[in-house]
Amino acid sequence: MAEIIIVRDQDEAGELYAHCVADLIAVNPFAVLGLATGSTPLTAYQHLAWQIRDRGIDVSHVRGFALDEYAGLPVEHPESYRSVITRTVVEPLGLDPRHIHVPDGALETLPTAGEEYDRAIAAAGGIDVQILGIGTDGHIGFNEPGSSLASGTRVKTLTEQTRQDNARFFGGNLDQVPTHCITQGIGTILKARHVILLAFGENKAQAVADSIEGGISSFCPASALQLHPHATFIIDEAAAGSLKRADYYRWVYANKPEWQGI
Ligand code: F6R
Repeated sequence: MAEIIIVRDQDEAGELYAHCVADLIAVNPFAVLGLATGSTPLTAYQHLAWQIRDRGIDVSHVRGFALDEYAGLPVEHPESYRSVITRTVVEPLGLDPRHIHVPDGALETLPTAGEEYDRAIAAAGGIDVQILGIGTDGHIGFNEPGSSLASGTRVKTLTEQTRQDNARFFGGNLDQVPTHCITQGIGTILKARHVILLAFGENKAQAVADSIEGGISSFCPASALQLHPHATFIIDEAAAGSLKRADYYRWVYANKPEWQGI
């Protein structure tokens, strides 16, 4: 099963992620990072930026692939995921923007953009560490409930719930939130060598419990991670609130040999 780490707060989660990724880049300067947007990973990126600076790690060869992009939103829009990734990852970490890929949400090329993206990931050697948030409906990337567990990168229609959740990034105006997106598929995400899902807050508790302790079902896309050989959930107490076996996960982690890492 996935490793479940219940942490105090976002800082502790961010430190765990940052250690793991900084260690990876230190031994493999050509590491390929899977990148997520949204509010969940922000603290983790901040910690990674600090580690890179403090340890003097060379990131000039690091490659990155974002999970998703809104369809039809101009890339220069401040909420396009290209802009968000530039602002929250590329600049603070000092990555080379030429090595950072975001799915192309331009309407003219949408029909072929997904397959091209998956080919680009494969050509880069696959993703080493994929960071994920989770939607309140259990989505990963923008794979909404019902998404094929074998899906590749493709166009999806956002649910009303996801659009409402994301309206906060568009000044609270639901009409401004795009209706479609292009997202790495669940099958694409499962190919990453290590997947780290972060979740914070009570509003993620049900989705987290369904993912970890429910059956594997396209109706909870994150439950597909039960099929992944190296998946790590790093969640705070509030997000762990609906887990039946939380005490067991705490015990397992508390008794884990330090050399194992995450
Ligand atoms: C972001 C993404 C989404 C978010 C999810 C949670 O690239 O693909 O799956 O991770 O919607 O969003 P936040 O972190 O804003 O709660």
